[in-house]
Amino acid sequence: MKIRALTGGEMEQALPALARLRIEVFRAYPYLYAGSEGYELDYLHTFSKAPDALIVTATNADNVIVGCATGSALTGHHVEFAEPLVDAGIDLTTMFYFGESVLLPAYRGEGIGHAFFDAREAHALALGYKRACFCAVERPADHPLRPDGYSPLDSFWTARGYKQLAGALSHFDWPETPDGPKIVHRMHYWTRSF
Ligand SMILES: CC(C)(COP(=O)(O)OP(=O)(O)OC[C@H]1O[C@@H](n2cnc3c(N)ncnc32)[C@H](O)[C@@H]1OP(=O)(O)O)[C@@H](O)C(=O)NCCC(=O)NCCS
Repeated sequence: MKIRALTGGEMEQALPALARLRIEVFRAYPYLYAGSEGYELDYLHTFSKAPDALIVTATNADNVIVGCATGSALTGHHVEFAEPLVDAGIDLTTMFYFGESVLLPAYRGEGIGHAFFDAREAHALALGYKRACFCAVERPADHPLRPDGYSPLDSFWTARGYKQLAGALSHFDWPETPDGPKIVHRMHYWTRSF
């Protein structure tokens, strides 16, 4: 597996893979995202213009991108995620935002999730950020679509030094069925200082 951190014009080459992986990986619990190419094009266009943006890619032996992780500044971008942080008294210029980590199931458990964090944290540190955050969807323990044996990633994130930010929540809507209505989801912030 090859891990690469792409910035600037180089990110363009990974955008189609990122769209494909977001639709495929986020289809599963807990996200249950019924993604559409139209939304992905809008999202990726906005993301690629964000200040300090990067995409970390994981490429297999056949040179296929099988995982991606993203990050960017929060200032002037991701308004829906930025506002609750401002309300919590956080200076957005010091906070780097991790957008998503999406890796095909066949490649999990080999340390790529750690590599995604390592690359994004190194990028944020090099740019002078003092802390990082990401959001994770809230699901009740008895959600009817929770797979048997499902294990949340909380212990992984805690081991990486991230903690849930008390009192800050964002709300983000997406459809859970193709052509279905957008459903509002509560998202918790996880943050750490460097
Ligand atoms: C998040 C994701 C990229 C992690 O990928 P990964 O390559 O399997 O992660 P790693 O192999 O680096 O494992 C990292 C650590 O987390 C642990 N871990 C991985 N998946 C776990 C799970 N479902 N539950 C509990 N712990 C888990 C590993 O055991 C490992 O722990 P260790 O450091 O003590 O050995 C992958 O699980 C994924 O794509 N998930 C679906 C999308 C998602 O939920 N993304 C996060 C929010 S955007």
